[in-house]
Amino acid sequence: MDTTHQLIVLILFAVTSFVLAADPSPLQDFCVAIDEPHDACITSNLYYSDSMFVNGKFCKNPVLVVAEDFTLGGLNIPGNTSNQLGVFVTPATVAQLPGLNTLGISLVRIDYAPYGGLNPPHTHPRATEALVVLEGTLYVGFVTSNPENRLISKVLYEGDVFVFPQGLIHFQFNIGKTKAVAFAGLGSQNPGVITIANAVFGSNPPISDDVLAKAFQIDKKLVDYLQAQFWTKTN
Ligand SMILES: *[C@@H]1O[C@H](CO)[C@@H](O)[C@H](O)[C@H]1NC(C)=O
Repeated sequence: MDTTHQLIVLILFAVTSFVLAADPSPLQDFCVAIDEPHDACITSNLYYSDSMFVNGKFCKNPVLVVAEDFTLGGLNIPGNTSNQLGVFVTPATVAQLPGLNTLGISLVRIDYAPYGGLNPPHTHPRATEALVVLEGTLYVGFVTSNPENRLISKVLYEGDVFVFPQGLIHFQFNIGKTKAVAFAGLGSQNPGVITIANAVFGSNPPISDDVLAKAFQIDKKLVDYLQAQFWTKTN
């Protein structure tokens, strides 16, 4: 291969490995997250610590790691869906389960109230999601990127799985007469959530109503009305 070919192969390899990666791969068995390096001390201007700083969280000293670092209870407990949307998300991300740090996955339990419990349109900037319905009937969907903006949607029943690709706007809506329960795995220890309505109409401080009126092709009064609403926060 000449140099150009080598360069192209190198670039292709770099691009491919970037696309395949979710969270960066760990370089150790685990890195149980701690907020502060517990065993750090400062002696004559030197900072000693057994901890490392990896992608936002310190690693707990492996010698001190215990089974509890990899355990979380309570995902059998239904979330309280008595809110405006009729939904409750119980997260098990690195924030609740420190053992997930650097490992690139997390999960959530989602409870939906009967007759219209809605996990409203949102995206996860850092994760693809695989959702499995344990109970109930959900109308779910996601919308592809511009310019097609194609809606890909389906009604799911008990035991059905649906995939929401990383970054795409998606939702789940309980169309059944009973409550619904789903669990979802996500390809990041910290998937992040952007709820579209909250981000657009509930931002702090508010986006100029000139901007939103033009963007949404609606009257400024309607923008002001929407901005004055309470936007339920989901995880
Ligand atoms: C559920 O949330 C509602 C509204 O916040 C509250 O009034 C109610 O007491 C909660 N129910 C339970 C069982 O915690």
